[in-house]
Amino acid sequence: MAGSVQVGLVGLGTIGVGVARLLLEKRSKVFAGDCGPVSLKRIADKDLSDRGIDLPSGILTEDVSAVLEEPEIDIVVELVGGIEPARTFVLTAIEHGKHVVTANKALLSAHGEEIFRAAQKRGVDVLFEAAVGGSIPIIRALRESLGTSAIRSIYGILNGTTNYILTRMTDDGASYDAMLRAAQQLGFAERNPVADVSGKDSLQKLVILARLAFGASLSPEDVLCEGIERITPMDISFAQELGYRIKLLAIAKEREGRIEARVHPAMIPLSGLMANVKFEYNAIEVVGEEFGTQVFYGKGAGQRPTATVVVSDVIDLASRIHSGAPTCRVAPLLASASGVQLVPAEELFLRHYVRLEVFDRAGVLADIARLFAEENISIESVIQKGRAASDTVPLVIMTHEASEASIERALRRLSTLNVVRGPIQRIRVEELE
Ligand code: HSE
Repeated sequence: MAGSVQVGLVGLGTIGVGVARLLLEKRSKVFAGDCGPVSLKRIADKDLSDRGIDLPSGILTEDVSAVLEEPEIDIVVELVGGIEPARTFVLTAIEHGKHVVTANKALLSAHGEEIFRAAQKRGVDVLFEAAVGGSIPIIRALRESLGTSAIRSIYGILNGTTNYILTRMTDDGASYDAMLRAAQQLGFAERNPVADVSGKDSLQKLVILARLAFGASLSPEDVLCEGIERITPMDISFAQELGYRIKLLAIAKEREGRIEARVHPAMIPLSGLMANVKFEYNAIEVVGEEFGTQVFYGKGAGQRPTATVVVSDVIDLASRIHSGAPTCRVAPLLASASGVQLVPAEELFLRHYVRLEVFDRAGVLADIARLFAEENISIESVIQKGRAASDTVPLVIMTHEASEASIERALRRLSTLNVVRGPIQRIRVEELE
C-alpha cells in the first residue's frame, strides 16, 4: 500500500475545527478499516488564534498556497464558505491536481459548472456531501443509487434554522424573533442569518440537487425564492385548522422536459412525513419513476454532523486513492449539453392560501369574490373569524389551482381596495406526491 494520503484544510471555522479534530483523532472504525492511512498535513486560515483544539506544531499557517500548491497534499478540504476567495482556492487546488472536498453550497450553486469542468479537465474529483442536508447522504444517493431512475421531483426541507423557527412557532406559539435568536445560539444559523430566513440557503442547496437529479445548471437568481420572515402565528394556526403545516420547502420537478424549481413557505398536508420533520432536522423526498417515493431524513446543521460528512468524503477519496480506483467522477455533474430550461414563475399553477384583514361589512366578501372571479381564480373555501363592527377581521381564502400571474394580479388589486387593511398574506399550497 502506498504512503499516507495527505489532506490539507483551508478554513478553520466551526466546521473546520470539527473536521480537524476528526482527522487528528481518527477514532472512527473506517479509519481502522480499509480506507488506508490518512494524515492532516496543513491547515490554512488567515486567523491563527486559538480555537480550543490541540494542533500539532507548525500545522497551522496563514499561507493558503502552502496547502493549495503543496505537492504532497492529495486532497484539499475547502471550508472557507462564500464565493471569493473560496472559488479561487478551489480552482487553484484543482489546477495543482488536488481532489477537493467542500461544503460550500454558495460556491457550487453559483459556479458549479466552472468547477466541475475544471476538475474534469484535470482528472480530479470534487465531493460535496456536506453542502446539502448536513449529515444526510443525499448527494451520494442521487449520484450513485438513485441515478439509474428518472427522477420526477424533489421536495426538501433543507434549512435547519428555519425549520427550527417554524417548529417552535407551531408547537409553542413562540415568536419568530425569539426563535431566530435561539437557532443562532444553537449554532444552526449561518453567520448572517438572512441567508437562512430569506430562503437563500435552501435555494443554493436546491440548485445543487437539481444539477444531480435533472442535469440542470440553474442560476440561483432565476429561481423563485421567498423566505419565512412574514409567516405569523395566525397563519400557522389557520394552516392547522385547514389540515396543513407551514414549512420552508425547496421544490424541483420535471415538467414536460423543463424544470419547475422554487423555494417558499408552503402549506403541506399535516398527515404526511414531511410535515412531521421538526426542529433542525432536514428531509428530502425524492420521487423517481422506478422507485416511487423515498424520504431521507437527518440533522441538517451543526458542527459535528456536518464535519462527520466532510470527513466521510475524505475517506471515500482516500480509499480510492489507496486502491487505485478511478477518482474523477465529475462527468455526470456537467450540465446536459442540450440545456434544461426552467419553467418561468408566472407559469406556476398552484393552490393558494390568501389572508386579508378586512372591514366586517355587508358586501365586502362579495367584492373580493368578484375580484377573484375576474382574475379567473376559483375559490375553494373561505374562513372568516370574529365580529368587529368598526374594525377589521381576518378573512382567509383558499383557492383552487390558479396561475401565479393571475394570483399576483389579484393580490395587487386586493391591496388597493378600501375595505382591505394592512399587508396581505399569501402562502402556496403543495400537496406533495
Ligand atoms: N445554516 C444552515 C441551516 C446549515 O440552518 O440549515 C448549513 O447549511
